[in-house]
Amino acid sequence: MLRDKLSIKLSELLSALSLALDSANNRIFQHSRRTAYVAFNIAKNMGIDEHILSDIYYASFIHDIGMTGEMTQYSIEDIHNDKKLKKEHCQAGAEIIKYLPLNERVHDFVLYHHEEWNGKGVYGLKHDDIPIGSQIIHLADYFDLNYGSILNEDINVNNIKRFFIIAKGELFSPEAVDSFLDVMDKEKFWFDLKFYNFQQILNTIEPNKQREINIGELKKIAKAFSVLIDKKSKFTYTHSQGVAKITKDIAEYFDYDKLVVDKLEIAAYLHDLGKLVVPNEILEKPGKLSKEEFDIIKSHPYYTKIILKQVKGLEIIADWAGNHHEKLDGTGYPEKLTNNNLTREDQIIAIADIYQALTEDRPYRKGLSKEEALKIIQDIGSKNKFQQEVINGLREVI
Ligand SMILES: [Fe+2]
Ligand SMILES: [Fe+2]
Ligand SMILES: [Fe+2]
Repeated sequence: MLRDKLSIKLSELLSALSLALDSANNRIFQHSRRTAYVAFNIAKNMGIDEHILSDIYYASFIHDIGMTGEMTQYSIEDIHNDKKLKKEHCQAGAEIIKYLPLNERVHDFVLYHHEEWNGKGVYGLKHDDIPIGSQIIHLADYFDLNYGSILNEDINVNNIKRFFIIAKGELFSPEAVDSFLDVMDKEKFWFDLKFYNFQQILNTIEPNKQREINIGELKKIAKAFSVLIDKKSKFTYTHSQGVAKITKDIAEYFDYDKLVVDKLEIAAYLHDLGKLVVPNEILEKPGKLSKEEFDIIKSHPYYTKIILKQVKGLEIIADWAGNHHEKLDGTGYPEKLTNNNLTREDQIIAIADIYQALTEDRPYRKGLSKEEALKIIQDIGSKNKFQQEVINGLREVI
């Protein structure tokens, strides 16, 4: 294995992570991806410099990243119809971006993506005081919020154009609107937006193709997302961070190469990524879940894996993260994997997860002591569900 050499594209990773955010029940599926596509085309047609163009593209994928935490309970429509929530998600999003390996420009593009050209937006910036990327994302975002989910119905392009012509110089920058009118004239634009495999379309336009991330940057992104995942439910506000810590300790106990330890830690940060897709009413339901509700919960490691697998170079991390509810005897979920196809790395995360869950406080019970948790895990292990070797590793590190 090559040390420190990852081949992961920043845009592909941001695109996949945006899908986790946009797949929740009260969001618009692929909203951020389409916003990125539309914003890119408007900016490109305006002749914007390559570096700014790629920052607009990155910012588009995460422009609504601030709609997490407490805001997961509101629908995307509610947030955009309420000036206070609108401002909050801009602010929260920009705050999260400070922890990502992205520059100041991307931060500002997200912070000001709800400014209006006439100065009546959330921070009251006016005209060219609004960063150019924000002007464009604002327009692309508005388009997708209103038309993104009905593209396959009978949409009337002339009506859409008429709307933007009226809003030109009021809501939106005149130059951005003119560019968008040009873009809308191309048949390809509409064919692309309706194409069934939208990521393929994004791959063809991707600006700054050479921009790959290193292991340190990947860890930063994974850690920032672990905070979003944990904050989604008040029951689990430090869960992923805890799992990452124990995973790292066990991995070091087994003397893995530094790069593998880092990758395991990243998989641990992201193991519950799929929970972003599960409705909060189910995640936080007090009392016993019905069979149907539990089946929905069981989809979270599935989404973790399938979302991470969209990123080339992340396949192994996707497996380790997505297999955290599998058991050696085939009684886990969602793939019913067994002994034959589960690795020690899978088991490290699975055991770190269960240990962390047992020892953390929940609103309805106190966390168990180390000894009590270890005893439970040992009991499960003796029924042929976990590798004894990994249980021993856990015992050594705690
Ligand atoms: Fe927004
Ligand atoms: Fe948006
Ligand atoms: Fe889980």
